[in-house]
Amino acid sequence: MKIVMLGAPGAGKGTQAKKIASNFGIPHISTGDLFRVNIKNETALGKKAKVYIDQGFLVPDDLVLELIEERLGMADCKEGYVLDGFPRTIPQAKALDHTLNNKNDKLEYTIEVDVPDEVIIDRMAGRRACLSCGRTYHLETLRPKAEGICDFCGSFLILRDDDKPETVMKRLEVYHKQTQPLIDYYRERGILHTVDGTGEIEMIYQEIINILV
Ligand code: AP5
Ligand code: MG
Repeated sequence: MKIVMLGAPGAGKGTQAKKIASNFGIPHISTGDLFRVNIKNETALGKKAKVYIDQGFLVPDDLVLELIEERLGMADCKEGYVLDGFPRTIPQAKALDHTLNNKNDKLEYTIEVDVPDEVIIDRMAGRRACLSCGRTYHLETLRPKAEGICDFCGSFLILRDDDKPETVMKRLEVYHKQTQPLIDYYRERGILHTVDGTGEIEMIYQEIINILV
């Protein structure tokens, strides 16, 4: 099963992608998480990407494609994957189609998690993230069992550098301009499904499961 999660920053793509991945036993691949690991480990790619990420801009397509093609070539991707945060531009979507076409393969579902900008701004301020396993929490709606500690891997939770309100505004602007065109791109291909992302996490997940089974 090959799934793409689409939606604005903070729409809940990662939250839902993790649940889908564990339900279907396929990897959750978040380009944002992969970049954050590279930044934490101070790799050459991480150093280049950080400049863009910290300002709320997209990382250039060539760097993203280098990262994702390597990841999609790994053995655990044979049965499918949930892509979260990729593709984010039309050239990235075309590159993914091209890679899949070469293997006589295709995407099956694109799930758009739809949340208005005002709700997003509130959510981001309360988000806390685990840099080790990529899980996210929220100070009000999804609290960890022990304050500041990831339930799953025990690492410290952080406020992401790009979750400052001014950077969130920039990320939203970039989303509307560069990523939203993908909604029409996938609608035209007949694989777009939109869910309302403003309800409870579990309800949204059920709606997604109904689409996928
Ligand atoms: P990335 O990490 O992908 O960030 P993003 O798309 O901006 O999305 P987020 O991770 O911020 O939000 P999310 O939708 O996953 O929401 P979450 O589930 O955490 O990318 C970061 C940066 O890397 C980009 O800005 C860019 O620079 C670069 N990058 C990455 N991929 C790239 C690409 N392909 N091309 C170019 N550049 C790229 O939820 C948010 C919060 O809300 C959490 O606290 C959560 O607990 C809470 N929450 C979730 N659902 C609900 C709900 N239903 N009700 C209440 N609270 C909820
Ligand atoms: Mg995310």
